[in-house]
Amino acid sequence: MFQDKVVLVTGGGTGIGRATCIKLSSSGAKVVVNYSKSFKEARETYDQLTNEGLLYQADISDEIQVKEMILACIEKFGKLDYLVNNAGITHQLAMDNLEGATDEVWDKLWDVNVKGTFHCIKEAVPYLKKSKDAAIVNVGSVAGTTGLGSSVPYAVTKSAVHGLTKSLAFSLAPKVRINSIVPGAVKTRWWKGNEEKMEELAGRILLKRIAIPEDIAESICYALVQKSLTGQIITVDNGQTM
Ligand SMILES: NC(=O)c1ccc[n+]([C@@H]2O[C@H](COP(=O)([O-])OP(=O)(O)OC[C@H]3O[C@@H](n4cnc5c(N)ncnc54)[C@H](OP(=O)(O)O)[C@@H]3O)[C@@H](O)[C@H]2O)c1
Repeated sequence: MFQDKVVLVTGGGTGIGRATCIKLSSSGAKVVVNYSKSFKEARETYDQLTNEGLLYQADISDEIQVKEMILACIEKFGKLDYLVNNAGITHQLAMDNLEGATDEVWDKLWDVNVKGTFHCIKEAVPYLKKSKDAAIVNVGSVAGTTGLGSSVPYAVTKSAVHGLTKSLAFSLAPKVRINSIVPGAVKTRWWKGNEEKMEELAGRILLKRIAIPEDIAESICYALVQKSLTGQIITVDNGQTM
């Protein structure tokens, strides 16, 4: 399905990003596995690729590093067809802890989740526009839809990711499609030490299961190739928000 396609996955070394890199690679894609801190995990992901790939360290909140990463991808593969903006961070805080939502916390989350996502899109778009079939998937969160999540700043930055998806659908049409895959609770290191909070936030899950990274990877791949889809916020949450 992804034969000869080149795909960049931010935060590709762990969790949802790792499952996406492995699925894309086994479907024929050449995958750029981006990481910022987790070299060991990213290397393990890279080693599991079944097709040609590139392991690349870049902090997406730094525009220069993002520019260099896109250039490295073009230098190695000559093109870029798809971008998966999966990298994200949170700061765990109770929803009623307004004092804890300091400027420092806001800036850190905004810089990575929103501006970092935008940097990747801005730098990738000139190359995506040269592809015959280009698409972007932004990984959002049900926190961005319902407002309830690991903290107020996290939920608000994910709302902004959904907003970016819709606004940029206008900016990038008709050459590049852009959609958000919006997970509910997913079993990854994200919740390490906060498993009880995850269960509590997830609430009543209709399907009585917590998603695994491979579930979300499958949805990301679908949104990349579905030619009739743009500007959509697609929830994949086992009925958590029903
Ligand atoms: N797990 C859930 O329940 C859940 C629910 C809804 C949405 N999500 C979203 O899913 C995405 C993936 O999360 P996950 O659950 O798979 O957790 P994860 O394993 O912690 O993944 C987060 C990834 O983001 C990368 N990252 C963080 N800051 C970065 C930066 N400045 N530059 C480049 N990469 C950076 C991390 O890599 P480094 O360690 O190398 O920095 C890591 O690979 C996130 O956007 C998250 O908001 C998760």
